[in-house]
Amino acid sequence: MNGSAHFRRGKHMNIKITGTGSFIPANRVTNDDLSKIVDTSDEWIKSRTGIEARHISTEDTTTGMSVQAAKRAMEQAGVEPEDLDILIAATISTDKVVPGLACEVQSAIGAKNAFAFDINAACSGFLYGINIASMYLKSGEYKTALVIGTEMLSKMVDWTDRSTCVLFGDGSGAAVIRAEECAENREGILSVIQRSDGAKGDVLRCDNRPVNNFLVKREAGFSYVSMNGQEVYKFAVKTVPEAVKEAAGKAGFALDEVDYFILHQANYRIIEAVAKRLGQPMEKFPTNLQECGNISAASVPILLDEVNRKGLLKPGNKLILAGFGAGLTWGAAAIIW
Ligand code: UT7
Repeated sequence: MNGSAHFRRGKHMNIKITGTGSFIPANRVTNDDLSKIVDTSDEWIKSRTGIEARHISTEDTTTGMSVQAAKRAMEQAGVEPEDLDILIAATISTDKVVPGLACEVQSAIGAKNAFAFDINAACSGFLYGINIASMYLKSGEYKTALVIGTEMLSKMVDWTDRSTCVLFGDGSGAAVIRAEECAENREGILSVIQRSDGAKGDVLRCDNRPVNNFLVKREAGFSYVSMNGQEVYKFAVKTVPEAVKEAAGKAGFALDEVDYFILHQANYRIIEAVAKRLGQPMEKFPTNLQECGNISAASVPILLDEVNRKGLLKPGNKLILAGFGAGLTWGAAAIIW
């Protein structure tokens, strides 16, 4: 469909999520399981984060999980791999440095008409991805995008560092996003806010391989995710409500009208603090971190898929999606379902 989608005059173009899908590895690891490998307890993890378990891959790959989520989203949207014009993967845990995840998925599903690329915006990656996809789709040049958020953080955390290893999990979520001609211009993704602050990037980082060439020889090291949890906590509680309000304001939503706030699943206390700052009840904030932990770029699309497949999303419902994380990056989107 590249370059061939034309929209008739007098019709509006809405950018809509038409299908969602997700995949979580089977292997469930409880807090008690982790207390056998690091000095932690179910009580500490539950009370500080709300997390009770996470799913850790044993057989799956980042690509394999993405393919499962992508197929489910495409099936729900009723699109075939050849229909995809754009394939964007948000991840910090690709299987290979190159090819990137999006190209690996393209090959695996046979999306031969798409162009495919990855974005690294950590836990905000899915929000960034749907914004980028929306921009392409709004141009009228393309009709169908697949945005995937996938992480296998289990290969990036230090399993001897109790301050990080208890927090994260593996999984994938995906959404098909289409440009649709509609009579009414009040549906779909109405606004997306994207922000970053690279100056504060050190509070949540994972270094790459050290320089090691024929001129410079450094001992090859392997870096793990490291985090100043309290700084990230403060950053999240400040920026997420601001981004949510901005996205809602741009879309013309009053916060009270919002049916669901689908937030990045890092910590239940962060979600409670955001809800309080927005003056909204916790019932509007679905969560799955109890079962999944923090899956970075995959958290938001997996939760969106869960809520969708439970039948909770009705046409006309107002949603706000929001993510925050390494970079630092953060973002929010306002959607009419
Ligand atoms: O998606 C990326 C975004 N990431 C986040 O949003 C993370 C945001 N931050 C947080 O969620 C919280 O800061 C954490 C859950 C990471 C930590 O909670 P906290 O209430 O800020 O705890 P803390 O770091 O202040 O640690 C308190 C104590 C320390 O012991 P001392 O110094 O008081 O003796 C830690 O060593 O808890 C200790 N501790 C643990 N104890 C048992 C740290 N991790 C653990 C653990 N089990 N797993």
